[in-house]
Amino acid sequence: MSRASLEKHTEEVQAMFDDVAPRYDVVNDILSLGQTRRWRKIVFDAVGAKPGQRVLDLAAGTGTSSEPFADAGIGVVACDFSQGMLKVGKRRRPDIDFVAGDATNLPFEDNSFDAATISFGLRNVNEPKKALAEMLRVTKPGGTLVIAEFSHPTFAPFRTVYTEYLMKALPPIAKKVSSNPAAYVYLAESIRDWPNQDGLAAWIDQAGWDSCRYRNLSGGIVAVHRATKPLV
Ligand SMILES: C[S@@+](CC[C@H](N)C(=O)[O-])C[C@H]1O[C@@H](n2cnc3c(N)ncnc32)[C@H](O)[C@@H]1O
Repeated sequence: MSRASLEKHTEEVQAMFDDVAPRYDVVNDILSLGQTRRWRKIVFDAVGAKPGQRVLDLAAGTGTSSEPFADAGIGVVACDFSQGMLKVGKRRRPDIDFVAGDATNLPFEDNSFDAATISFGLRNVNEPKKALAEMLRVTKPGGTLVIAEFSHPTFAPFRTVYTEYLMKALPPIAKKVSSNPAAYVYLAESIRDWPNQDGLAAWIDQAGWDSCRYRNLSGGIVAVHRATKPLV
């Protein structure tokens, strides 16, 4: 995959995730140094869903980000457009409701979820602003949006080291543990090109969400943004 992949053509992103699906969770855990479980618990708490509520986990991949909700007895719909990721997910967690769908044209009714969340997915969507608008459409008034995404480390010297680390160390590690190392070159480049915390908050506001706040995790390697859908 070339740098052109940064243009995030839908079919290329889809094919890339189809390809990495069988080893996605293992590689993810290794590359995040085991931090993903902690990050997922923070997302779960930020959503604040109660039993009986319905949560959309968009770009859910193999459903790892949906598990905390299913485990807590919350009705979670795991939606993704990669058949490869959905297949691995359905096999791993047959109790979770996996639905094929594109984030920019969701196959759900207006106002049909109490909350919408997306973990490490928005950066991969070819038109992320459209996905934010679609998540708003399907969420009930007063409902919650929670986004977990790689972001910009807040401490400038660390940011430099991190960017260097990402650009230089990630692809060689990925070569050893992944069948598709190019996907991890894409990962490093797409993280570097993603807006910072305030930039993403501005997109969320512009899409029509209210009261956007964010919390930095692991020094800003990840940020969790939370917003609500206006009541009227
Ligand atoms: C890095 S994975 C994240 C999976 C999961 N949320 C997690 O936290 O492990 C990103 C996912 O985004 C999905 N994706 C990218 N663009 C999408 C789109 N336009 N519509 C639906 N899913 C999309 C990919 O198929 C992939 O499964």
